[in-house]
Amino acid sequence: MNASGPLCTFENELESLGQSESGAIVLKSTTMEPRTGNERPKYYENEHGSINSNGLENLGYQKYCELIPKLKQFGKPIIPSVCGFSLSEFETMVKAFDKAGADVIEINLSCPNIIGKPQVAYDFEQSEKYLSAIRSVTDKPLWVKLPPYFELIHRQEMAKLLLKNKMDGATLINSVGNSIIVDPEKGQAVIKPKQGLGGLGGHYVKPIALGNVWTFYNELKGKIPIIGAGGVYSGKDAFEFFLCGAEMVQIGTAYKHEGPGIFSRIKKELDAFLSLKKYSSINDVIGKLKVVEGEEYGFTA
Ligand SMILES: Cc1cc2nc3c(=O)[nH]c(=O)nc-3n(C[C@H](O)[C@H](O)[C@H](O)COP(=O)(O)O)c2cc1C
Repeated sequence: MNASGPLCTFENELESLGQSESGAIVLKSTTMEPRTGNERPKYYENEHGSINSNGLENLGYQKYCELIPKLKQFGKPIIPSVCGFSLSEFETMVKAFDKAGADVIEINLSCPNIIGKPQVAYDFEQSEKYLSAIRSVTDKPLWVKLPPYFELIHRQEMAKLLLKNKMDGATLINSVGNSIIVDPEKGQAVIKPKQGLGGLGGHYVKPIALGNVWTFYNELKGKIPIIGAGGVYSGKDAFEFFLCGAEMVQIGTAYKHEGPGIFSRIKKELDAFLSLKKYSSINDVIGKLKVVEGEEYGFTA
């Protein structure tokens, strides 16, 4: 499926997702009011990936609640993504999306691009408060969109909170926040907001995403499904996420680059790779990453 953000803000984009082979329609993260987001240029892409400082440009949650019944015609799960500026905003939007018929609601605790607002998911006390309160306002499946964690202890701590608060999915990872890409010719950052700082996606982040997925998979022990995101451009990339324990993948940067045709291409590539490797289904792959024993790679360093 698509990752929240790229090409899922406007009605025509959501309809294209409906017509594509994306397994679900994931909506752009919503706020209470419509927003135009941060100043442009706020997106840049090269052969390694992307940097963005979108700043939650969206139509406001009410508009997406109105669109849900229309999007149901495509017969796939509709997954709004919610990003409030306070707990009560999260609660209001989650209740509204529940009523409007959302199939799953993704709680975005990891937007790195709101000026002056740190990511909730890096504050474990605040995260616990948010997750338990949001859990109590809906019975719909709740997925939590998380940032990359770099210390194992943080991954373990967050995994405990997800289990304790009965979450139904962990989407890993949001873009790698507060990064910078420099144009050396101009001696200048490539995007304008936050003095050039933005969230990194694409090939740049795949190993970071896979590391997070693998640790969370081992901590959650299959009790909560993982939705992998970060650098999926091909069927083999998706396969790597499944090996590390993801049950689904989301595609952001590569979808923005290639458009909705990407979902059928990746499915075909994945099927071909699974047959080549003689797997009968993805279920035989999930979490089956082998670790190196002995010295088969012969590193000398
Ligand atoms: C232009 C752009 C906008 C994004 N906006 C959101 C957003 O609104 N909510 C969210 O949860 N993630 C957002 N993301 C992060 C992506 O959903 C995804 O987690 C990240 O880019 C890694 O996946 P990728 O390597 O396939 O791009 C955005 C990413 C990009 C490139």
